Amino acid sequence: MNEIKNTSDVREFRLGNLVIKNGLFLAPMEDVSDYPFRMICRELGADVVYSEFISSEALIREAQKAFLKMTIRPGEHPMAIQIYGNRTEAMVEAAKIAEDKGPDFIDINFGCPVKKIALKGAGAGLLRDIPKMIEISAAVARAVSLPVTAKTRLGWDSDTIQIVDIARQLQDVGIEALAVHARTRAQGYKGQAEWDWIQKAVEAVNIPVIGNGDVTEPQHAAEMFARTGCAAVMIGRGAIHNPWIFRHSKQFIETGTVAEPPALSERLEFLKKHYLYNMEYKGEKLGVIEMRKHLSGYLRGLPHIAKFRLELMPFDRHEPIFERLDTLNISSNYKETVETYREITARAAELTCKNGA
Ligand SMILES: Cc1cc2nc3c(=O)[nH]c(=O)nc-3n(C[C@H](O)[C@H](O)[C@H](O)COP(=O)(O)O)c2cc1C
Repeated sequence: MNEIKNTSDVREFRLGNLVIKNGLFLAPMEDVSDYPFRMICRELGADVVYSEFISSEALIREAQKAFLKMTIRPGEHPMAIQIYGNRTEAMVEAAKIAEDKGPDFIDINFGCPVKKIALKGAGAGLLRDIPKMIEISAAVARAVSLPVTAKTRLGWDSDTIQIVDIARQLQDVGIEALAVHARTRAQGYKGQAEWDWIQKAVEAVNIPVIGNGDVTEPQHAAEMFARTGCAAVMIGRGAIHNPWIFRHSKQFIETGTVAEPPALSERLEFLKKHYLYNMEYKGEKLGVIEMRKHLSGYLRGLPHIAKFRLELMPFDRHEPIFERLDTLNISSNYKETVETYREITARAAELTCKNGA
């Protein structure tokens, strides 16, 4: 059994060969937690990252898109590959394929609320068939030598919250850590995550419980650790336009101080890195085009930013974009920029929480 040290001074646990201290995890997010974004988050303090969820059926069909999602580069570790599905044999096969790609652990998705998945009995759909969830978990844990973890929700709906029982059963069949998104499937991403259930799961099992849901500020991460006793905190939407949340949460947890927003020079440095990782992953043309969706996040708060973004749109090569980024006047209006950045970040976090994307 993994030893979990969990006091206000020391929070650490083992997962396979990893020792994870005060863990801040980047949540698995489809279309978001791809290789470039994971690298950015790792460099900004995420201790563990996950792939996007990957269909077990697609993996055994050898679908190219599913295989691309398993790309792992050396700088990303510790990293999990997350799989989903509802056929035990397919999940076992997929876990073996994923293991060969060299992640540090395999995670099983029992939380996806999307109709086309949950209503077909995969993801959160398995919250309506706990024996099947346990069968899949046991079979996958037996089939691979890496640690196997799971990520789930509180239950199907508010009348069927079973997280405490689920946590115990998953532990009993060899699941080595459990991430709990403290909402039901029926809630989707709406309402508030109910952290009290994370605490109840923590108290019920000896495996590490990773708390998840509504951590959008560094103070929230500290609060989730303190209120629930969880072994690690997982951050999803709060990182989407603010990957600095990992570093800033760490600073808050360690010193109690709130970090200044990142300087423009640093935002530009990470924006360029993001371009380069994206180009490495998707090729220059597609990599550059797909970065358009990230521009507003990195450049928020700058004066005349909408116009500046429009100027970058015609390009599908990185050089002319980098040249223009270099012309941004770093010193002008810095104070004003920081204030606006704070306001917009807070508003964006509020909106993503409401919209669930
Ligand atoms: C765009 C998006 C994609 C997601 N994709 C996945 C996924 O592939 N696997 C998974 O387990 N959860 C997925 N989730 C759920 C998140 O991992 C997380 O549980 C949820 O967003 C709650 O955490 P947060 O409040 O920190 O965002 C996704 C969430 C979002 C917003």
